Amino acid sequence: MSRILITSALPYINGVKHLGTLAGSMLPADVYARFQRSRGRETLYICATDEHGTPTELAAAEKGQDPATFCAEQHEVQHRLGRAFGLSWDHFGRTSSPQNRRLTQQFAQQLWEAGFIEERVTQQVYSNADRRFLPDRYVIGTCPHCGYEAARGDQCENCTRVLDPADLLHPRSAVSGSTDIEIRGAKHLFLRQSVFAGKLRNWIDGKRGAWPLLVTSIALKWLDEGLQDRGITRDLEWGVPVNAREWGPNPEGQLPDIEGLAGKVFYVWFDAPIGYIGATWEWADARAQEAGQGPAPDAAWERWWRQPEAADVKYVQFMGKDNVPFHTVGFPCTLLGVNERTDAGGNWAVANNAPWKLVDELKGFNWLDYYGGKFSTSQGRGVFMDHALELLPPDYWRWWIMANVPETSDSTFAWEQFREQVNADLADVLGNFINRICKFAESRFEGVVPAGGQPGALDEKLEADVLAKLRELTGFMEEREFRKSATALRQLWVLGNQYLTEAAPWTAIKTDRDRAAVAVRYGLNLAALFSRVSEPFIPFAAEKIAEALGQPFPGIWPALDGEGVLAALEPGQPIRAPEVLFRKIEDAQVAEWRERFGGPDA
Ligand code: 2FM
Ligand code: ZN
Repeated sequence: MSRILITSALPYINGVKHLGTLAGSMLPADVYARFQRSRGRETLYICATDEHGTPTELAAAEKGQDPATFCAEQHEVQHRLGRAFGLSWDHFGRTSSPQNRRLTQQFAQQLWEAGFIEERVTQQVYSNADRRFLPDRYVIGTCPHCGYEAARGDQCENCTRVLDPADLLHPRSAVSGSTDIEIRGAKHLFLRQSVFAGKLRNWIDGKRGAWPLLVTSIALKWLDEGLQDRGITRDLEWGVPVNAREWGPNPEGQLPDIEGLAGKVFYVWFDAPIGYIGATWEWADARAQEAGQGPAPDAAWERWWRQPEAADVKYVQFMGKDNVPFHTVGFPCTLLGVNERTDAGGNWAVANNAPWKLVDELKGFNWLDYYGGKFSTSQGRGVFMDHALELLPPDYWRWWIMANVPETSDSTFAWEQFREQVNADLADVLGNFINRICKFAESRFEGVVPAGGQPGALDEKLEADVLAKLRELTGFMEEREFRKSATALRQLWVLGNQYLTEAAPWTAIKTDRDRAAVAVRYGLNLAALFSRVSEPFIPFAAEKIAEALGQPFPGIWPALDGEGVLAALEPGQPIRAPEVLFRKIEDAQVAEWRERFGGPDA
């Protein structure tokens, strides 16, 4: 049985995330992790805050904080909110951790020594007033094509043309507005991605049909456009320092220009994906510390990442579509470059006898919109994780998001549809079923699972229908087909209500107590099954159901061989009705929330 390593795209440190970010990576990864754990597989779900880069420096400055303090605070906020949403990370780390810093520097050093990193001089905008180099998008000016006055140095928002900061008329700094800027030459390191184009294409070609089409087509489009070498250093203060002092010569016998690289840091997209490994190392250290030991031995975390120990690991990544190029091209280049080398004849050879694992399954998502438009932090449009939890318990959001997760196309959040779906699925179908069966057992069978009676055709049909649906659900979950999984789960819940209506124990009990006992026993077992199979989606409600039935939580996923699929509860087992699982959302609440968070015309 394989071990499952799961990572979800690392959320940027600045700002509380909105539902779109949750939908595009962290929540589906959590649902999958919970499912795999309940299947009995050794599972590791890793996430972290993505902390470096110019936006972090600017956001910290705006709050009057230094980046380290800002990040430490924001990390705690995101950690707390993720936990409150039920995200079952095994570790929520930080890309600024010492572990990630060490790995990033080590990978860069190995890439340099293998000749995959080159020094180049690039022309960049320097702001005298801000005393810093400005990344392209922090230079603004007039678009030479359409005359738009607030065009960014990387792209004009108005006419969508791709720009170079040098194209802009009347350029100024987006940081201070100063026009006292100039172009300066600066030395930077470039990762020679172009060397890996053929290898990457073979690799991606091999994933066609297995990975979502969205993912392979984005990756192949990038490769078709020609893989560019990529600048992996920046002139910033906040980041992983380049630290070229330790590096040996590259194949040309050159040493890095230590003076010319002093004070530079790695580009955020170079160190961020390495953060998946860094956070796994953090996880191992944290566990060792909990056990009262010193730092973890390397083997404790490397067994998830390096061959041959990682041969039984299936590594699954979750992310929004904008992240796909960095995970199908950028990060794989880093790892391939550490794992392999070219010889003098240009042939590839193994460079590392404990090579790092590349991703096995990559699940990419489209966008979740808010009334067909973007969620916007700056305009306060849409729902953010902190506000969401002020309004409703996490399961409401988890269920709606997963039932509408933007798998095959973009999907959109609207309060009216949210209310309708949550009320129907959670309150009317699942909540109502659990309430009816538990209340009835409490009042008419002394609050225990009743014994007696012989199952008849109706009960046998229920068992067969449940088993068929359960197999379908399990298959979809294994395939990470979440919308189909949500549909199958809802259909399972519906089977419960249909059964109760047909078996009608409240009528049967008047004439045939044994018949009623069978129906109640099947109904309670169905509730226990619902707790187990709903846990990945709605863990908080699933736990309440398990508690009410005296079942362990989290439970194990039911077996698919049909043996005792509705017989987990022993007759005589005490039960009690849980408190109301899901209160219905009222029209008035929707009106208020639409007003507060911006509606269709906001
Ligand atoms: O798009 C984003 O939110 C990035 N912070 C994702 C980084 S994923 C990984 F590579 F770190
Ligand atoms: Zn323009």
